[in-house]
Amino acid sequence: MCGIVGYIGTKKASPILINGLKKLEYRGYDSAGISTIEESEISILKDKGRVKNLENLDGINNLKGTVGIAHTRWATHGKPSKSNSHPHMDNSKSFSVVHNGIIENYKELRDFLQNNNYKFYSDTDTEVIPNLIHYYYNKENNFLKSVNLACNDLKGSYAIEVIFKDMPNNMIVAKKDSPLVIGKSDDETFISSDIPALISFTNTFYFLNDTEIAVISKDDISFYDSNLNKISKDLTTVELSSDSADKDGFEDYMLKEIYEQPKAVRETIGTSLNGTNINFEGLSLSKDYLSTINMIYIVACGTAMHAGLGVKSNFETLCNIPVVVDVASEFRYRKPLINEKTLCIYISQSGETADTIAALKLAKSKGAKTIAITNVIESSITREADYYVYTHAGPEIAVASTKAYTSQIVLLNIMALYFAEILNSSSKDRIENIKKEILKLPEKLEKTLEDVSDIKELAKKIYSKKDMFFLGRGIDYTVALEGSLKLKEITYIHSDAYAAGELKHGPIALIEKGVPVISILTNPTLVEKTISNVQEVITRGATSIIITNQSLDCSNFDNIINIPETSALLSPIVSVVPLQLLAYYVSKEKGLDVDKPRNLAKSVTVE
Ligand code: M6R
Repeated sequence: MCGIVGYIGTKKASPILINGLKKLEYRGYDSAGISTIEESEISILKDKGRVKNLENLDGINNLKGTVGIAHTRWATHGKPSKSNSHPHMDNSKSFSVVHNGIIENYKELRDFLQNNNYKFYSDTDTEVIPNLIHYYYNKENNFLKSVNLACNDLKGSYAIEVIFKDMPNNMIVAKKDSPLVIGKSDDETFISSDIPALISFTNTFYFLNDTEIAVISKDDISFYDSNLNKISKDLTTVELSSDSADKDGFEDYMLKEIYEQPKAVRETIGTSLNGTNINFEGLSLSKDYLSTINMIYIVACGTAMHAGLGVKSNFETLCNIPVVVDVASEFRYRKPLINEKTLCIYISQSGETADTIAALKLAKSKGAKTIAITNVIESSITREADYYVYTHAGPEIAVASTKAYTSQIVLLNIMALYFAEILNSSSKDRIENIKKEILKLPEKLEKTLEDVSDIKELAKKIYSKKDMFFLGRGIDYTVALEGSLKLKEITYIHSDAYAAGELKHGPIALIEKGVPVISILTNPTLVEKTISNVQEVITRGATSIIITNQSLDCSNFDNIINIPETSALLSPIVSVVPLQLLAYYVSKEKGLDVDKPRNLAKSVTVE
């Protein structure tokens, strides 16, 4: 939620900052703003709406400074408006600040500052930060000390960049529970909320831990802990190609990311399954330990949670351990039964989701071991978990998650096999057969993506509908949930997913003439049962849309989309693709912004 970017170097900062903001816009697009400093003069330009509005503002070309900070906002405190846009300044207009995160005690701090004659001009939590810095500067007369003292007062999460008119060649950045990376090239330093926004400028990075602070000048960066002891940091080189963060000829990131799935899945397999050998670097769980585990929790939000649902029964049948999949925001507040015999797996594409991280911390505090599955190198969750494993999907920019989901399911299936091998809980033949099936997945995804003309046609027929339903049984139900989420988030069409057998316990009352009902049928043992449920909705006038890898008698259905056959355990990885494409093309038919759906942001760093 919110993206921040900063530059300090020899070039004009504003175009670099705007370029960075465009890449971070997936994190929020309610407003955008920029602040540069030149000859001890801070300039600010900001406005409601997207980065392109900012880019078109009068005066943007007059920002000549070589030091600057910028922000793209997902509104939390205060509606989207110019006055609530970042950067925010203190009353004396000496300090300019951009902030990603939430200051939970902002009311208390605001009261304190108001009692000290500070005035506030926005409804944001952020505005307390520059004023607190100013308050401490009056006492300490030291930029670094003042920022540190202000940070010590903040409760909640923050990644901040601060510039100060009296030290025009410096910038101070700090973080706690919100992401911030520092990219370094010869005589330039770049700051951002994520690596892909900077990868066209540099591939070497410093990573701050929570409560650390960095003082940046053109040629030097000094790092400090929260007691202002100097600390040293190593530069990390990140292997990521610069075109991975571009649209690469596709109209939208989402479409590009859907088409990247064969590659994403291939790369994710490649890092853990080498022929028949499974190897998870950094995940050292002994047989002794795994044998004590009597419960696995898989905890996540949104699509990542659906990935957990998609592997639950595979873990259970392969490892013979009960698995509970939970929504992170529920898990963290419902006093789950956890002890040292519980293994907790957290899935998060961004690695920054506040609820998922809080749920992880809770399990850790109760003695459980925690594994994080994330797609973002050095994301916050990797610092909290006992172990972490990366999916290798490459940057996912579109708000709607696609390639992260398929990569997560692949990775978790390989992990289930890995545990089963250690525990000896499944036959060798079974394990080897599933490995072979996994290795065939990239090819099957390529085949699924070869000809999508039927899906485009279908989108034209159904885009004006008000409601849609998704049905499935077993693992197909988990895909129905994901298909429904994808559709509603980018098309704004109301949709619901049901376990096919549940229909006649209530939801069938919603079926009337012409309502599209999309059914996923991949599990040969359940196909006949689901077909009976499809028949029930057809009888009540529904338009039936079938996604299947089985040979079915199609005469009864309105539309049928065939996909390659896979082992029933792995079917979500393929069967979700037509649903992603359908949501995409319906959104295009409606003329919507696919990559940036209303009210949403890619990283949900607030609870
Ligand atoms: O970064 P995370 O995987 O933790 O994000 C979790 C959800 O916010 C995310 O999957 C969300 O549901 C997507 N917009 C769905 O497409």
